[in-house]
Amino acid sequence: AVLDPGDEVILPAPYWVTYPEAIRLAGATPKIIQTNRANSYKITPKQLKNSIKKKTAMLVLNSPNNPGGFTYTPDELKELAKVLEGTQVIVLSDEIYEKLIYGDTKFISFAALSEDAYNRTLTLNGFSKTFSMTGWRLGYTAGPLEAIKAMARLQDHMTSNSVTFAQYAAIAALGEPAKQAIEKMRVEFEKRGKYMAERLNNISGVQCPEPTGAFYCFPDVSEHFGRNINGAEIKGSMDFAKALLEQANVAVVPGLPFGCDSNIRLSFACSLNDISKGLDRIQKWLS
Ligand SMILES: Cc1ncc(COP(=O)(O)O)c(C=O)c1O
Repeated sequence: AVLDPGDEVILPAPYWVTYPEAIRLAGATPKIIQTNRANSYKITPKQLKNSIKKKTAMLVLNSPNNPGGFTYTPDELKELAKVLEGTQVIVLSDEIYEKLIYGDTKFISFAALSEDAYNRTLTLNGFSKTFSMTGWRLGYTAGPLEAIKAMARLQDHMTSNSVTFAQYAAIAALGEPAKQAIEKMRVEFEKRGKYMAERLNNISGVQCPEPTGAFYCFPDVSEHFGRNINGAEIKGSMDFAKALLEQANVAVVPGLPFGCDSNIRLSFACSLNDISKGLDRIQKWLS
């Protein structure tokens, strides 16, 4: 609804796998910006500035991030917002993990940064993560009226409605009584994420920033590339994930489809016991 064929979209890697495909479906072209571990995989204002061209129509931001497990600080977002002032670039801010933040991480909506940011931002959110309503297909968008009207015109012909029971569930999810349950879940995730990152960093050749949001660890395992592990040539994240699954029965997601072949993604949306068992296996497999 907001992109035309020929438009370019700045997409920082790592990115959620749907984004490049959604951009291409709209006839636009993803312009992928590589980030690095030293910067917790976040795009810098300088990188953003250098990547804005005549055809740039949109910047996709996703914080807290899938698969990166990082969160932009309010100051970092303010710096990015400043770079966009005076440009034609709209922001698509996917904030679906906004309530799942850890330590002293603070969350702010991109649209809340300034009037300029407010006027150029489409905010995406949904009930799948914070409220464990995955599969119930309920999400929402806020943004400039003309953009929302265009989205409604398109969506009317793609999906008719969200189901009634999910809408009632959403009312309950946004109410006061749910807050305690969400906090309980957040605290549990925080514990698991800290544990997972600590264990990963204790494995030789594995480096993982502690997650500040979402429920993923995204370690760099590239020191193991070039190895032959029990007959499997490990050339990149795809080989790594396949061999780990086949030889040690641990399922992780390779980083390549997220735009970061040096990494793998591990989810901590499972029990501490399973996490511990999985990490034992990874550690043994890599030793
Ligand atoms: C960053 C991000 N945005 C959006 C979604 C979409 O979730 P759903 O389709 O369940 O609403 C996901 C799900 O994995 C995600 O990770």
